[in-house]
Amino acid sequence: MIVFVNNEFVPAEKSALSPFDRGFLFADGVYESIRTYNKKLFRYEDHIDRLKRSLREIRLDFKELASIKNIIIELIKKNELENELLVYLQITRGAAFPRTHSFPKEKISPTIFISVQELKESKEEQTDGVKVILQEDVRWLRCDIKSISLLPVVLASQKATEENAAEAILLRDGMITEGTHTNFFAVKDETLYTAPKSKLILEGITRKVVLELCEKFKIDFREEFINKDDLKSFDEFFITSTTKEITPVTSIDYWTINEGNPGKITMSLQTVFKKLVEDY
Ligand code: PDD
Repeated sequence: MIVFVNNEFVPAEKSALSPFDRGFLFADGVYESIRTYNKKLFRYEDHIDRLKRSLREIRLDFKELASIKNIIIELIKKNELENELLVYLQITRGAAFPRTHSFPKEKISPTIFISVQELKESKEEQTDGVKVILQEDVRWLRCDIKSISLLPVVLASQKATEENAAEAILLRDGMITEGTHTNFFAVKDETLYTAPKSKLILEGITRKVVLELCEKFKIDFREEFINKDDLKSFDEFFITSTTKEITPVTSIDYWTINEGNPGKITMSLQTVFKKLVEDY
């Protein structure tokens, strides 16, 4: 596998990073995951806008964003991959010695790392739906930044894996924020509900596309937090992300929803989403 790191294309096993990289020492960096449809980078501008925002919020000055698209295209060519791809892109504040918590005084270059891999899509999850579990949201209070500091996500996600669930849905003060790496939606009386844009969630690009589809197809939606205690009053649930697209949720902890069948609105949104990406 060829990766792009420290401004060069290198085989992953030959790439080297300084142990003083602030990404390694402090998780001082941000990232994006972007996928292709029909070999084209899906909603690339939205991902780059979100990356710019993340960089700005952590005060990381990175000027070369305009050249990234060509680097990604070059990396895809070098890896000679078939099928649809997932691009991982990470920028850290760079390497500095001695280790100081505050920004280094001298000017350092940010570290950029990009990898591409073939996407493993689970058709079954999308047609049959998945189980999710509920977990306390112990992340920091700036979940709107796509930070590489993901330990709470790692632990909640591992708990989900151990319970044969596809995702952990996170609760802050009894309110549902989002999944560890997905946004969460519920449907009641043909109206869609999802947590509002705020510092408590990441504004997913797929979430944005789903809300655009709702506008187009005249499906009502409300950006409101859902209380855990009200979950049973909803008819359907689904999660969204770059890799999971629109995945129905058919059980939450020990509750099997609608006899384990994906919901109607969920499936019709999935159909129009699939059409949109097919034509991308
Ligand atoms: N995760 N919320 C969180 C916390 C996420 O990490 C993600 C994406 C999403 C969905 O965003 P989008 O629709 O733009 O993929 C919501 C990516 C896939 C990741 O961690 O690799």
